[in-house]
Amino acid sequence: MQKITIAIDGYSSCGKSTLAKALAHKLGYNYIDTGAMYRAVTLYAIQNKLVDEAQNIRQQDLINVLPLIDVSFELNSHTHHSDVVLNGVNVEHEIRGMEVSNLVSKVSAIKEVREKMVASQRALGKRKAVVMDGRDIGTHVFPKAELKLFMIADPDVRAKRRQDEFSSKGQYFSTDEVEMSLLKRDMADISREESPLTQADDAVILDNSELSREEQLEFVLKLIADLQFISREEQSHH
Ligand code: DC
Repeated sequence: MQKITIAIDGYSSCGKSTLAKALAHKLGYNYIDTGAMYRAVTLYAIQNKLVDEAQNIRQQDLINVLPLIDVSFELNSHTHHSDVVLNGVNVEHEIRGMEVSNLVSKVSAIKEVREKMVASQRALGKRKAVVMDGRDIGTHVFPKAELKLFMIADPDVRAKRRQDEFSSKGQYFSTDEVEMSLLKRDMADISREESPLTQADDAVILDNSELSREEQLEFVLKLIADLQFISREEQSHH
């Protein structure tokens, strides 16, 4: 089967990474969580006091130290997925907390941060056979991806999912608090100047408010099978 690039974009907590992991597992592809990369840079900013009391990022200071920030991935032998590594330290767990979640939109709005992350995302995906999820993958990182998905889901469903994710890690927040944080992040993601979250014209919308994980996977595998069929048809006509 021809190796392709699969770009998955959408709002926060729409189940992008769950679907991306399942797809990568099924197809034997690499999964790259680009949100984790922006989260790792945010963690660096917190650790290095680049956040002021008003919770603003000391932007120029962060830009100045960007060459010192190395974000990579390493395979976790238990989960069989890649964990994000910040300057040699596995931070997969630390980046999922509320503090990073509430600051990451500010960090990911900085042009220089995005340029650095996008360059490394393109390098990670250059051999195809990759499922990458984020906000600008189909529009900016891989505008020629063979398959683009744009995921949406009901805000209540999303907040509940995120709340469950937090509580499974021993962090307890009210549904309202989680929903507010999500919607704030959506607003920041769609309204920023640099590569805002938008749906690519050729993306397939997937609303998973009422779909099980299996149903979503089945839906996408069917899309991929159709793609392979179309590309074989095209080749046979040339
Ligand atoms: O997918 P996530 O919630 O882990 O992403 C964290 C933040 O990073 C999100 O608020 C927006 C930003 N992000 C981005 O701007 N571009 C991407 N490709 C991925 C994430």
